Parts: sequence; structure tokens; C-alpha cells
Amino acid sequence: MGAFRVPRSRANQTHQALRGEILAALKPVLFDDYRSSYTARAELEAAFASKMRQRHAIAAHSGTIALFLALRACGVGPGDEVITVGNSDISTTGSISQCGAIPVLCDVALSDYTIAVDQVENLLTNKTRAILPVDLHGHPANVKALRSLADRHDLKIVEDAALACGAFDHGAPVGAFADVAMFSFAPFKPLGSAGNGAMLVANDDSLADELRLLVSYGHDPQHNNLPPGYQNYVAEGYNVPLDGLQASLLLVKLPYLDEWTGRRRAIVSQLEAGLADTTARLPRFRAESSPTFRSYAIAVDRQGELHQGLRAAGVEAVIHYAPPIYDYSVYAGMFPERGTLTATKRLAGEIVNLPITPELTNDDVDYMIDVTRKLLNDG
Ligand SMILES: Cc1ncc(COP(=O)(O)O)c(C=O)c1O
Repeated sequence: MGAFRVPRSRANQTHQALRGEILAALKPVLFDDYRSSYTARAELEAAFASKMRQRHAIAAHSGTIALFLALRACGVGPGDEVITVGNSDISTTGSISQCGAIPVLCDVALSDYTIAVDQVENLLTNKTRAILPVDLHGHPANVKALRSLADRHDLKIVEDAALACGAFDHGAPVGAFADVAMFSFAPFKPLGSAGNGAMLVANDDSLADELRLLVSYGHDPQHNNLPPGYQNYVAEGYNVPLDGLQASLLLVKLPYLDEWTGRRRAIVSQLEAGLADTTARLPRFRAESSPTFRSYAIAVDRQGELHQGLRAAGVEAVIHYAPPIYDYSVYAGMFPERGTLTATKRLAGEIVNLPITPELTNDDVDYMIDVTRKLLNDG
């Protein structure tokens, strides 16, 4: 099939509009002193930390590796349990398993699809080390409520905000109530690079130091008393920083994030008005939650029919997070709690994600509403 009339992303249009700024930002990394690449990364980290009102931001190669590093920095290791959700990306559970820890799945709320906070306490054991809530589709999980629970039980919170750059909760940018939060810069994310990328944010100085070490080989830039030219490694780390070209592109884009988030919300308001009287169940949010919308996830009875029908009509709908994580073959025989995850299972069979990209016109959105209504037989 050719190009979609309403695609998931029109970032290329935005990149064209910012062409001059982008090329000027990329130039030093390509043609100046090699340190320009490090400078771009450091500038992005500083700008991002300030935007997210956090003391520290550490740029990494991808959200997947960044989640793993965040858990490691929080001390998660073999035999620990980490409570998370089953309606997410494989990297959410994968990051836990790769630390040698055990992901324990909590059910989610049918209203906004995020972790059912009232069910977390029942899952605690003496092995629980951390909670990993996910801001699914850009909907903030109620991490403030989890914070008090975590503090009572001496647990860390690593927030998977991969999809939620630009979202606020309880008056603060998402991530504010976590020990570490991760934002992905993969191309379809609310702040997308042209490749892979992610940012970790943290307020705690020693956690941030540990994250910096893990991103860069475990190399300590302080030489202490070593002879000149000698290196000091204080951890076995990885080599997974964000590369300078992506950092330069993101530095150009970051100042526009609020404008784009506003446009995403305006598109959703138009969709809400156009679909309110249909059989589709629209997500509902807590009063304090101010989502960004990577996509607009609606729940319907005939998921496959709507998904295929929209795509045939040129609307690039997708189904995110089906089946639930525990049904992937890699997890065969795992997750004995699967039978208790009724909302997770139900949503996996109902969600259809309508495309949202800030460049959509009101006409594009009207077209999407029209096609959706017809396919739902709602006229
Ligand atoms: C909820 C969630 N967490 C983590 C990730 C991993 O991010 P990345 O693609 O940057 O590795 C994704 C990617 O789509 C995601 O959707």
C-alpha cells in the first residue's frame, strides 16, 4: 500500500520546516573538533534536566538499555522482584529480567490503562525491590500515589516514561515522583530523534553518578592519584551514550515540545468530540493528570475490524501492546499471576491506537473521525 493519508508520523515535515536550524546544529559535530559531539550531548542533558525540573539528566542510546541501567543503578539484582504491568513494551519486563530479577505483573486501570495503584500493595513480598510503572500511550501513571507506598516499604521507583515526554502530573513534568524516569527518543515518540535515543532523569546525586558510570564503561573521569594517561574504572559498565548527531537534532527540537504537546492535546479534543457518542470507549484521566498523546488509544468490541478498516482507508492505526506481555512465547510458563490480570487482558483485545502527530490538520482529524464512525456503524 502507498503512503497513508493520515500517517503515524509526519516528523519529516517538521524537520523540513526546521531545516536551517537542524543543519546548523549538525555541522559542528560533523566538521568541527571531535569534542563538539560531547558538547552537544552535555547541552542536551542540561536543557532536558531544566525542562523536566530535575537535577540530573543522562542521555543514553535507547530506552531499552536506559531502563536496564536505571534498575541496576537502583540496586536491582538477582532474585529481587520488581512490580510492573503486562501491557507494555518487551523492554519493560526485559530490563527487569536482564538484571536477574523477576518481573511481577500488576493489573491496570480500565480508565487510563496505567498501573492499578490500589493493587500494588497485595503484590509486595520480602523480595520486592522496586516498582516500574509505565506511562502508557503518554498517560501518566499515578506515581505520586506509588511514592508514599514505596517510601513506606523502602522501594525504588523507576518510571517508564518512554511515551510521555511533555506530560505533566500533579502539576509537575512526569518523572517528578520517581527515583529515575526514562524518556525514549525513538522516532515515533513525542520527542523523536532520527534514530535511537533516550534520557534518564534523577534528582539524587549518587544515583545520577552511578547512571553516568554505567552509560560510559564504568569509567571514572577523576584520575585520583593515578599517573597521567592512566584510566580508572570503578564499575563494569556499558558503552551506550546518546550519539552527538541525535543530541544536536534533539537540542533543536526540545524548545518546541510544549507547542507540539499542545497540538497533540488539541487533536485529541477534536477526536473526543467526534467520537463521544459512539460505541468506542475513550480513555478517561484523573483530574491531576495531563497526558501527552503518542497515539489515541480507544477501546472497541471489534478490534481487528476497526484496525484493518482504518488502515484500508488510509489511516495508519496500530495495535500497541497486544497480546499482553505474558503471552509472548519468550515468557511461556512464566507469570503465574496472568489469570488475575483481567483489565490487562481485556484491553489487549480492545485497544486500537489512532495516529497522532502534531502536523495533522483538522481535516485529517475529521477524516479519521468519519472513517472510525463508519467502521463502528455509528454513522
Ligand atoms: C513503554 C515503552 N517502554 C520502553 C520502550 C523502549 O524504548 P526504545 O525504543 O527507546 O528502546 C518503548 C519503545 O517503544 C516503549 O513503548
